[in-house]
Amino acid sequence: MQAALLESAGAPMVLRDDVEIAEPGPLQVQVRVAYCGVCHSDLTVAQGGLAPMPVVLGHEATGVVERVGEGVTLLAPGDPVVLTPIAPCGRCYWCVRGEPGVCVNASSIATATFTDGTTGLSRGGAPVYRGLAVGAFAEYVLTSETGAIKVPADVPLDIACVLGCAVQTGVGAVLNTARVEPGATVLVLGLGGIGLSVVQGARVAGAAQIIASDPVAQRRATAERFGATTTIDPTNEDVVAATMALTEVGADYAFEAAGRAALVNVGLDATRAGGTTVCVGAPPIDENITIAPAVLFTAQEKKLLGCLLGSSNSLLEVPRLLSLWRAGRLDLEALITTRRPLSEINEAFDDLAAARGVRTVISL
Ligand SMILES: NC(=O)c1ccc[n+]([C@@H]2O[C@H](COP(=O)([O-])OP(=O)(O)OC[C@H]3O[C@@H](n4cnc5c(N)ncnc54)[C@H](O)[C@@H]3O)[C@@H](O)[C@H]2O)c1
Ligand SMILES: [Zn+2]
Ligand SMILES: [Zn+2]
Repeated sequence: MQAALLESAGAPMVLRDDVEIAEPGPLQVQVRVAYCGVCHSDLTVAQGGLAPMPVVLGHEATGVVERVGEGVTLLAPGDPVVLTPIAPCGRCYWCVRGEPGVCVNASSIATATFTDGTTGLSRGGAPVYRGLAVGAFAEYVLTSETGAIKVPADVPLDIACVLGCAVQTGVGAVLNTARVEPGATVLVLGLGGIGLSVVQGARVAGAAQIIASDPVAQRRATAERFGATTTIDPTNEDVVAATMALTEVGADYAFEAAGRAALVNVGLDATRAGGTTVCVGAPPIDENITIAPAVLFTAQEKKLLGCLLGSSNSLLEVPRLLSLWRAGRLDLEALITTRRPLSEINEAFDDLAAARGVRTVISL
């Protein structure tokens, strides 16, 4: 099959037409990819060499089931699906506790393999890795049965792909990870596909104030359209002071969605005593968080939460988000500003790095 291969960190991706994909094994499905959004996590992996190589990136995708393996009951050939990076097993310690986002049997984002170490992909007899546990900048994806969520036939796949990562992550961070309540005050740091989805999630949750910060004017304008009540340009305004002025006591919730560790401290400083900061962004591997003095964190009962894919159970989350979209309460269309064929994948990464537009969707 054809796939965009990243062969070394920092290099451009190369289109190859000789990548082999295995037949689906037990409880696996093969999906013909239709569309895939480009997420900053792909860029972080590509630049930082955070996956074994060669690797197929792309993890925000839709497609149509082509073949099913033994024992598959949830899906059949011809089913339109949204792919998800975390395919919950439903049986492990975390799944049964209702924390499927950290399912121990989901395909590993870190190793870019299934849990048994296989990838189902190869080239010239050598393994090819499935980036961010999907690998959808390719004609086909092999995934677990729960890694592809069936959607109704009338759902436009070129729009629904953003549910795969950005919207599950951003809205899930609000509804599942933080559990924002009506009337809350929310600060969002970074307004890419993820942060703008946090803004929409905060509106769905009934937040009274949604303060949104990003240096890019176009993204602040989109945030206003999505429900931000105030926008801040952090390059010429002090975000903590502005949040204090607007909320009097500090925000109830802050979401770091830019992928910069230093902004986690901005969130901690801008939230009230007892407030919650959620780390949604994925900073480069060499960045750390220091909380000083630690005793103030204790005494002020501040809360700091990690967040993977919005703590979502995708089998529940994808249909729920589609219902919100159908009800006009979630705008997926406006997140997508550019469309490109797979042959322009490197240009799409350049746009992402330069924060041009919001989401690019690649058609396969
Ligand atoms: N936790 C998860 O499961 C998960 C899932 C998907 C993406 N991510 C991560 O979320 C982050 C955002 O992803 P994205 O695709 O939206 O990226 P993006 O590049 O589209 O958006 C990042 C935004 O942050 C803004 N920004 C940069 N510096 C800032 C500052 N000082 N203050 C405010 N805003 C600032 C940029 O202008 C940009 O608009 C990335 O780190 C990505 O890896 C995490
Ligand atoms: Zn992503
Ligand atoms: Zn599990």
